[in-house]
Amino acid sequence: MATKPTSAVAIYPGSFDPLTNGHLDLIERGGRLFGRLVVAILRNDTKQPLFSVEERMEMAREVVKDLDNVEVDCFDGLLVDYATARGATAILRGVRAISDYEYEWQMALMNRRLCPQIETVFLMAGEAHSFISSRLVKEVIRLGGNISGLVPSMVEAQLRARVAKPQAIRNVKSKNNPKDSQ
Ligand code: PNS
Repeated sequence: MATKPTSAVAIYPGSFDPLTNGHLDLIERGGRLFGRLVVAILRNDTKQPLFSVEERMEMAREVVKDLDNVEVDCFDGLLVDYATARGATAILRGVRAISDYEYEWQMALMNRRLCPQIETVFLMAGEAHSFISSRLVKEVIRLGGNISGLVPSMVEAQLRARVAKPQAIRNVKSKNNPKDSQ
């Protein structure tokens, strides 16, 4: 039986609006590295989310239900305060491309300054997932594109329900018939 190299607790924070297959890949790999992994959804985000925190937690819980050492939670305020309260010694983040680097670098150094005891651990996104982002997935489904394979199937179903009518079709109709936009 494979033994875990550590019993450390790690926090995997993010918006997860919604959780993608890229996130899931990181959760599975992080779960193998740490004794316990907490997927922590930021509550006081300034972005306008598509799904409420409760909806995102419910979806994430369903997706990770078979991973014994992974739990889903939400947090407010400083990430390092939450991580300390949870007894975590690591923050897990994924890096997809160079474009992620500056943002991640700033956050990691700020978090280290705030709390030097907590290490940020980066995993490279799997090559099959390095182009996936929640933002692009939402854009593609809004415009009527195919998102299968980019998000877990239950997340895809929730997205379809939320974004019922592709915007592209609505816009074409509106142009052809001014009454559509009323
Ligand atoms: O997936 P995201 O949206 O890039 O995640 C960003 C997140 C949630 C990790 C980041 O916004 C965060 O940690 N927010 C909590 C506030 C905080 O601690 N800020 C100061 C340190 S950067």
